[in-house]
Amino acid sequence: MGFLLPILLALLASVLGGLYFLGAFRQRRPGEPPLDRGPIPWLGHVLEFRRDTAMFLERMKRKHGDIFTIQLGGLYFTFLMDPLSFGTVVKEARAKLDFTKFAQQLVQKVFGYHSMENDHKFLQMSSNKHLMGDGLVVMTQAMMSNLQNLMLHSVGTKHDRNKTWNEDGLFNYSYNIVFRAGYLALFGNETPKSPGSLEKAKEVDREESQELFREFRKYDQLFPNLAYGVLPPGEKREAERLKRLFWNMLSVQKMKTKDNISGWVREQQQLREEHGMEDFMQNRYMFLLLWASQGNTGPAAFWLLLYLMKQPEAMKAVQGEVEEVLKETDQEVKHGGPLIDLTRDMLLKTPILDSAVEETLRLIAAPVLTRAVLQDMSLRMSDGNEYRIREGDRVALFPYTAVHIDPEVHPDPLTFKYDRFLTPEGGKKTDFYKGGKKLKYYNMPWGAGITMCPGRFFATNELKQFVFLMLTYFDFELKNPEEKIPDIDIKRWGFGSMQPTKDIQFRYRLRF
Ligand SMILES: *[C@@H]1O[C@H](CO)[C@@H](O)[C@H](O)[C@H]1NC(C)=O
Ligand SMILES: *[C@@H]1O[C@H](CO)[C@@H](O)[C@H](O)[C@H]1NC(C)=O
Ligand SMILES: *[C@@H]1O[C@H](CO)[C@@H](O)[C@H](O)[C@H]1NC(C)=O
Repeated sequence: MGFLLPILLALLASVLGGLYFLGAFRQRRPGEPPLDRGPIPWLGHVLEFRRDTAMFLERMKRKHGDIFTIQLGGLYFTFLMDPLSFGTVVKEARAKLDFTKFAQQLVQKVFGYHSMENDHKFLQMSSNKHLMGDGLVVMTQAMMSNLQNLMLHSVGTKHDRNKTWNEDGLFNYSYNIVFRAGYLALFGNETPKSPGSLEKAKEVDREESQELFREFRKYDQLFPNLAYGVLPPGEKREAERLKRLFWNMLSVQKMKTKDNISGWVREQQQLREEHGMEDFMQNRYMFLLLWASQGNTGPAAFWLLLYLMKQPEAMKAVQGEVEEVLKETDQEVKHGGPLIDLTRDMLLKTPILDSAVEETLRLIAAPVLTRAVLQDMSLRMSDGNEYRIREGDRVALFPYTAVHIDPEVHPDPLTFKYDRFLTPEGGKKTDFYKGGKKLKYYNMPWGAGITMCPGRFFATNELKQFVFLMLTYFDFELKNPEEKIPDIDIKRWGFGSMQPTKDIQFRYRLRF
């Protein structure tokens, strides 16, 4: 899902070198937001920012109010913390606030990929075609078939299925299954031709995706420090090794031997081929696509299942809805019976699950949205005040602190309430207020405006399918129901879905 890679990385421009050596002596000018250069020359606040972005920004907000400018690694970032004013940033013309150019530089630094012209526009067009609307019908089917291959295999083949409990870490399990199924749905299946049968091809899919996931997790764990450019030499070499491995595993040559490649991946590849991009560079792009599409959904699936398990009432509501939807299509899960056919249409009839998903993302999705200021400009706040912003600076939003956990917008903000986004009539709730005014931006897990995650519909679908199948096929419970919900790992603020500081054990077994 990658809450749009470029935005996340954009922030890190500050530390990744190639920086302007702007004013250690900068002074606030009339009409500018409060300026806080931080304790260390040039670096400014970067250490505290990296240690715990959310806590730091909260402190700055208390000190300076809804808008302030801070120094991070030689660059000046103006953070806007008033969600009623987000529109000014989100809708500002690209001529003034842009993200593409430096996002491209960052993608080059972290992924070794050299963008072509209009890269982002092509990605958006292709995502609109294949990852939403009618395209999603096909993707839902592909995801479904891969989820079933992975989920049902681990509990035995059709004949010797039995009801023994399996144990695993919930984070490990959820991330593993969602990542691998998503990868197979997008990048294609092994063709039955070479191994000889469909069963064998499915086995190859399971093994290959397992290997990919194992390696991906290593990269995933290095990523925050990699992006900040502070990996020690040994880990830097490891990151380099992993990158090469992914380029190889996801290579265009390998891809061309696969079946069921998604239109999304195929189109991206063809486009680059037509533009004369060399194979090795296309391979790098494939890894970028994998990272952006599969790094966030798995962790989100973990939190969603965990919140449901910790709240029997929420679990019961979602379970009831899932059973209802199945019954409406005359499907029943039984021993030795056919696998269920979960379609896109069925997934459109789950308002309670939708609300639970949105509530989960409110709590654990924390992207930073960043734009480069291309010319001197002013930002008009909702209270009528205007602030001057300098060319060469950055403007940034951190919706998690600014709105997701603002108690005025979302009462009791740190508690999971599965029906927070439901109206009393059971529809989708979109009325949220601050200072008596209705908010347009009340939950922003996917970013907003031009940088809004183009994969959001597919990602939401992936999450819902996984939970739907878990509830349909398995009984599952926490091994220790009293165990507390693990803390969020604060090293990952700004990178999309948060991960827990530790895993939590659960067990599951077939229901039928
Ligand atoms: C291709 O996808 C369909 C479902 O979308 C599935 O039935 C079929 O088994 C897949 N092919 C392979 C080789 O896995
Ligand atoms: C159930 O499966 C487990 C592990 O696969 C096996 O050890 C056990 O004998 C099976 N029990 C039955 C009743 O089939
Ligand atoms: C993670 O999950 C995989 C597959 O479910 C399993 O084989 C492995 O043992 C798990 N690892 C941990 C540390 O729980």
